Amino acid sequence: MSNQDKINQLIDLRVQAKLGGGQKRIDAQHAKGKFTARERIEMLLDEGSFEEFDMFVTHRCTNFDLDKQKYLSDGVITGYGTIDGRLVYVFSQDFTVFGGSLSESYAKKICKVMDQAMKVGAPIIGINDSGGARIQEGVASLAGYAEIFQRNIMASGVIPQISAIFGPCAGGAVYSPALTDFILMSEKNSYMFVTGPKVTKTVTGENITDEELGGANVHASKSGVCHFVSQSEEDGIMMIRKLISYVPQNNLEEPPVTECSDPINRLEDSLNEIIPDSANKPYNVIDVIDAVVDNGEFFEVHKHYARNIVVGFAKFNGMPVGMVANQPMVLAGVLDIDASKKAARFVRFCDAFNIPIVTLVDVPGFLPGSGQEYNGIITNGAKLLFAYGEATVPKVTITLRKSYGGAHDVMSSKQLRGDINYAWPTAEIAVMGAKGAIEVLYFKELSSIEKPEDKLKFIADKESEYVNKFANPYEAAKLGYIDDVIEPRNTRFRITRALQTLSTKKDSNPPKKHCNLPL
Ligand code: HXC
Repeated sequence: MSNQDKINQLIDLRVQAKLGGGQKRIDAQHAKGKFTARERIEMLLDEGSFEEFDMFVTHRCTNFDLDKQKYLSDGVITGYGTIDGRLVYVFSQDFTVFGGSLSESYAKKICKVMDQAMKVGAPIIGINDSGGARIQEGVASLAGYAEIFQRNIMASGVIPQISAIFGPCAGGAVYSPALTDFILMSEKNSYMFVTGPKVTKTVTGENITDEELGGANVHASKSGVCHFVSQSEEDGIMMIRKLISYVPQNNLEEPPVTECSDPINRLEDSLNEIIPDSANKPYNVIDVIDAVVDNGEFFEVHKHYARNIVVGFAKFNGMPVGMVANQPMVLAGVLDIDASKKAARFVRFCDAFNIPIVTLVDVPGFLPGSGQEYNGIITNGAKLLFAYGEATVPKVTITLRKSYGGAHDVMSSKQLRGDINYAWPTAEIAVMGAKGAIEVLYFKELSSIEKPEDKLKFIADKESEYVNKFANPYEAAKLGYIDDVIEPRNTRFRITRALQTLSTKKDSNPPKKHCNLPL
């Protein structure tokens, strides 16, 4: 064979590999409105930046005559490339080859890019579209999954791990995405479940569709498994590119700072009027976030889940931060089990990856009731408390309005190593709200008042006394728990200055094997 023949052979093999499971299956994939594994990588990475590994890998299984059916790349495309010039590693499951199912060789390909990503300290992005374990390979396939899980665990908190689900992801296969930092699902064609509808029907008698059991909307709003929902694969891929723009390459690096055209001393007069006169009236905390962050750009995470708390990424003077804010529009911004879990996970991600946390507080307390108590609001609320207290990144807290009881302590208070804690003049920082306080403090007096109108007058007088004394930021400021009371329209400037000052902050936790987070 001449040298030219050898080069031609290479070119032929590459063409063959790029056809995956063949044109017919590619057409079938397109007919479902799905892109192929390679097309997805092309969309995700900067043009021409993809370097592929292991294109010539094939499976080694001989069961069920599988040795007569081999495809170059064996159902997963792996390698590296760049997003906005920054290195990332990728794997993309190819549904056209055995339904994207995982063989031993396929698992090794994924493990190789995960190992490489860990070695050089770069994010890894996995695109999932697979029928699960390759049935013909039996237990070797299960071992392959476990090899991936172990690497997901070791990479956690070291490099950002992002999963996109653009097809089926079922059985134990769901646990690799579940171990990563963020899961994105496209609204069409994607679903995740440990046990599918058929087995569910057999075991429990429940009749349920793929979509109802594990579709994107279910996981985004009910289970909280999914952090981002996209309308299409293209949108989803753009969201992943955006997400990458806020995170550092690894836990030893700082998040990427970009040029900022938005003046840091921009006054936002609307904020002076955003808090309604009545304490029970809501406002949208996202309006506050939009008003203070660079160019009003807020990249919300977990948007459809536990909407009583808002989390997401933004920038101040080009510096990425994680924003956490109680949302008065939903359940008055109360902390419940789901909100605590959602915010705790986000705070821990930010802390692991050196992303400062800005917290906007307007919280009436924890949600009361047997539903919450029986389901463990104690353990789950403790997660958020733990996450804030453990975090050593810069923490800037602004109390906008209510900050009551245990929830006051939880929301990045001074005593949980909050670095800079400001309050608006509208802040109310106290042990509890006026109504509850009066009922406890004056229980005996109230029981002895007979006439209802006298009772109401007594309550109103005592409430007003309580509000005058406690529903303000100055009691906390007197004790130094609040560093300053600031004018709302100046909030962008005060946060930016605080973050600039804290950029050299050093804090640490005592050496330990790991914490015992209340899971
Ligand atoms: C081998 C598989 C496969 C699998 C699909 N294929 N799943 N081959 N192992 N797990 C093949 C099909 O034979 C078919 O081959 C091609 O992929 C496309 O599959 P279709 O069924 O035609 O596609 P579709 O109708 O879109 O259905 C997709 C599907 C379905 C819902 C994923 O294929 C399916 O239910 N597959 C089995 C899923 C499953 O039970 N997996 C094992 C779960 S246990 P041809 O040659 O016709 O193109 C598991 C444990 C993991 O995953 C544990 C980790 C710890």
